[in-house]
Amino acid sequence: MYQWVRRHHGLDFQILKSSVALGFRKLSRVTMLFIVLSLSLIVFMSYTKATFNVPHTLEHLQGNQTLETGQHLSTQTVQVKHVSSQILSPLPESTAEPDNVQLDVMTKGLKPTLTPESAIAEIAEPTPSPESIKHVDPIDSHSSKLEIPQEQQRDRRFALVIPATSPSPDLCKTIVTALALGYPSPIIINWGVDYHTITKWEGGQNLPKIPGFVKYLDAAMHPEAHPDEKLEEDDLVLMVDAYDVWFQLPADILLRRYHEINKRANIRLQQQWGRDEPIPMRQTIVAASGKNCHPQPDSGSNMHCERLPDSPLRADLYGPNTEKDATKHRDHRPKYINGGVYIGPAGDMRRLFRRAAQKMEAGLSQGIHLFSEQGIPGEVLGEQEIWRQWQRAMKEVVYDNDAKFLMDRDFEYHFGLDYSQELSIQTFWTDTDHGLFDGAFVLLNNQSAIDAHSEALGISPVRLKGVPEDVKSAKNPLTDVIESPDWGEMELYADFFTESVPAIVHHNGFKERRTSWWDKPWFHQHLRKLLAIHLAPRRTEAPLATVEIEDGGVKYWAATAEKLDRRPRLMGDSAQAPLKKIGFQDICQYADDSLRQPGDHWWDEVFRDAGGPFS
Ligand SMILES: *[C@@H]1O[C@H](CO)[C@@H](O)[C@H](O)[C@H]1NC(C)=O
Ligand SMILES: *[C@@H]1O[C@H](CO)[C@@H](O)[C@H](O)[C@H]1NC(C)=O
Repeated sequence: MYQWVRRHHGLDFQILKSSVALGFRKLSRVTMLFIVLSLSLIVFMSYTKATFNVPHTLEHLQGNQTLETGQHLSTQTVQVKHVSSQILSPLPESTAEPDNVQLDVMTKGLKPTLTPESAIAEIAEPTPSPESIKHVDPIDSHSSKLEIPQEQQRDRRFALVIPATSPSPDLCKTIVTALALGYPSPIIINWGVDYHTITKWEGGQNLPKIPGFVKYLDAAMHPEAHPDEKLEEDDLVLMVDAYDVWFQLPADILLRRYHEINKRANIRLQQQWGRDEPIPMRQTIVAASGKNCHPQPDSGSNMHCERLPDSPLRADLYGPNTEKDATKHRDHRPKYINGGVYIGPAGDMRRLFRRAAQKMEAGLSQGIHLFSEQGIPGEVLGEQEIWRQWQRAMKEVVYDNDAKFLMDRDFEYHFGLDYSQELSIQTFWTDTDHGLFDGAFVLLNNQSAIDAHSEALGISPVRLKGVPEDVKSAKNPLTDVIESPDWGEMELYADFFTESVPAIVHHNGFKERRTSWWDKPWFHQHLRKLLAIHLAPRRTEAPLATVEIEDGGVKYWAATAEKLDRRPRLMGDSAQAPLKKIGFQDICQYADDSLRQPGDHWWDEVFRDAGGPFS
């Protein structure tokens, strides 16, 4: 269906080895000597090549070498001085990943990436014993992720990925809101893909998201990826659905919340663990949440909904009847996966989605009519939760490191949910029996408007109070557009129950609002100006966002591919060259002329001014 990108030279070597073995007896001594010599030469050359292809993460190993922190900013020369000895003498960390060279589906990135959150929560990683190291093949081990806690990478790339197959003004809205709010230029995956060729039946329109995302991550993380596009294990990737997602808060707020969510989750995990042994679980990936477990097991994906943890939100979120009626999903705290938004480190995300891709392939190859993308990572999440419960319940520590490693590899994905919908609100199940809605676009300075909404919904005392602290302290994106802008005077979507003012509004329910509400958000009337600001070439080196966390700051940088041209890019077959740019006309136009009023152009819908075409 699509190619798994290998990053090993080991395969060529193995093939050679076996062909030598097969023809062994028929050969004369001279020929054999020749083969042995060539073999040595090939081994030597591939070893040297591997050495020089080592991604810069290996630099982290050099205890007495300076760690380059600006390596994401430009093409950089990889320092290889001490690397060679590391390759052949695997460190304990490297043994955690005996890569499967034949089909490199899910064995990579097994060793959890160390993130600031994990350092904050002081979560130690189990260290394999020397016995478990011995049998590791050095040829496989060089690709392992090798990291040590003391030298965390503080400069990270931040990539935005959007799966979309065809143009529409709704896709345009997703993309222009991202650009206008300072997110990285999106990388579009699956453009032009016909989902039937992947699902082999008439359903499953969203399924290509899974292999498409793996293909992108494999390409961007490949050692030979172009430096303009390259992602390392710890670089952050945000994937959002196209067509029904709007951004409403800038990237630095979303990033700060992402760190906070993981920090809180890791504290919860630590508390639930409550023993002296190192905790074998933690969170680095966050997916959006929903109120209903969907799809059900008859879909071919078993999400083990009944085994998922309870929401950490207040038990009376929707009043005394919260979660009393299993069929009234609206009254449930979000605790199930929604596939609209995923964010996490590239390495961990790849591992999760490789696992999902493997499950998807297994299902489709058995003729199962899989139809829901979210059901598949949802199943991985459900299995992770069962594994975690079992780990906590076990009285005895498992000292068998091989077994431990295999179990971690197959079930712990550092995967969790955005329970409070701070990253993304899903609008499905937000309507009441009385025709009211849990959320609305409001001016947060207008407390009487908030009170009126809240009282109508029976919320007493009123919960939502003004602009959230993290929004207040963020730079206002209208600073260069109007005089002394005030967040409280800018229309933002807020939820009166959860008190969330999300970074993303995901219109998975009431989809007509994508048109009827499009002029409501604060940015709408400033869209052309905001785009002009954010589409200008970046002449100065400045990070997209700097996030302060407890032990220092992390700078998030856009890929150098978008430095001079900020138009979105299309994922092709590989990332060995910079990805191709795509123009707004090609993204935003109506796919079908029957969808538009005569004389209406996409820019008339998107900007709703008399400003004419946009490019
Ligand atoms: C640094 O390199 C020297 C040799 O150049 C070596 O003796 C020393 O052990 C190294 N230090 C660390 C921390 O690796
Ligand atoms: C606040 O909202 C109410 C109700 O929507 C509205 O009548 C009032 O004019 C608003 N006040 C201000 C200062 O905008």
